[in-house]
Amino acid sequence: MLIDDDPRVACVTPLRRVSGRRVTTVEGLTEEEQSKWAGSFVAHGASQCGFCTPGIVCRFVGHERKGADLGNRETVDRLLSAHLCRCTGWQTIREAASEVTVDLPSRDLEIATRQASLEAGTTQVIGPQVVLGRGGFADDETPDGALVAVRGDSEWHLADNLHQAREQAGKIQGRRSSLEPQPPLELPDGNWEVSLRTSWVEPAYLETDASWCDQVGEPAHPFANGGAFGGKIESDVSEVARWLAQENDCTVRVLWSREDVVRYGPKRPPISAGLRADGTGMIRLVATPGVAERIQAVLPTCEIEQLTIPGPPTSSALRAAGWAEAEMLRAGLRGNTDWITAPSGASARAEVGDELIRVEVNAGTPLDRVMFRSYCIGAAHMAYSWVTAEGLSVDQDGEVHDLTIRSFGVLRSSDTPHIEIISVGDGPVLAAGDAVFAAVAAATWLNRGCPPDLPSG
Ligand code: FES
Repeated sequence: MLIDDDPRVACVTPLRRVSGRRVTTVEGLTEEEQSKWAGSFVAHGASQCGFCTPGIVCRFVGHERKGADLGNRETVDRLLSAHLCRCTGWQTIREAASEVTVDLPSRDLEIATRQASLEAGTTQVIGPQVVLGRGGFADDETPDGALVAVRGDSEWHLADNLHQAREQAGKIQGRRSSLEPQPPLELPDGNWEVSLRTSWVEPAYLETDASWCDQVGEPAHPFANGGAFGGKIESDVSEVARWLAQENDCTVRVLWSREDVVRYGPKRPPISAGLRADGTGMIRLVATPGVAERIQAVLPTCEIEQLTIPGPPTSSALRAAGWAEAEMLRAGLRGNTDWITAPSGASARAEVGDELIRVEVNAGTPLDRVMFRSYCIGAAHMAYSWVTAEGLSVDQDGEVHDLTIRSFGVLRSSDTPHIEIISVGDGPVLAAGDAVFAAVAAATWLNRGCPPDLPSG
């Protein structure tokens, strides 16, 4: 949003700061600005779920009005440093800023939507309306007058508005920890050729879990526009909304805070693993249904031990959970990268340097090359960011200490190498993201010299 023409991030600006000042959201930009920026973001595949996009568009417009050079990478990196886009990996956003395409592309956006939905694993609409903030997020669509429900430690707190519900629940503002993320599992004893320990990792989707329901209808789904990288598959907010609406005989809006997502939402399960030169070895894993089987498929001669330890919940639904780590270990043992095939059948091979991440992808013939490239770049960024920088601080009692989205370690635009995607496939289209993620994770780990603990720095 713009406050008296200066771009500000709405999610951390208290209402009292804007009292008496002029607030402009994306809806208040001129028609020409809206159409120009929506067109450019769609043309470059710079918006996926779309949750971050209106804020970034407002930032670009605010600085463009003041004459900023949006063709300059350093300038755009600096402008993006106040924002977080988890989906796109930043690059297509920079392209939308520096190579503004004024008219909407002539390509078929229904087909772009099909390509996006294949990658998201659920409906993900592509179009100018998403860029301009109409992605269908549950919390935006709640009817006026709904009660608001906020999660407490053991019960839901219901009030007329969010402020009151938060007060009742005793919610405090999230904070960042000074504790460094620590892999929680000890390395098994052994004479290992390569070893790897990882920490809890937050999927870091931007729209926190939300739903609403009236007394008789179906609840809104928290997915909204995309799948949250598998992080919302088991979310219970819809069922809570239905139950509270029926109990209280009124429309109820249910909203998780960022702290709720961190504490109660699923994480990538930590592992601790050692491999011998002959490929045998031992993998310890925070017990997570479905992950051991995926690891075993990559490393069939490894013993797998599942342990239950205090900490946030984990899920096999998160991007390539477990098997990407197994592919990293395999690549570390080989000493080089090779094609990696995902359960979808798509495969990828990556080279990682300080300035460039280059990925070849065989995922059939893309339906829409712009969105195919956008998703591959997003998955490559997520892998590079995970290996080098991401992790949650969780203490020995299992309490999470990183409670803001800034504290998860997601790499900024300025720290992300250029990502080149080369499609080499033909035939039926396949979802490529997990293959790209695993290939870039393996290549990044090799590039860093296969350090035993992640994040590698
Ligand atoms: S498009 Fe930026 S967070 Fe989803």
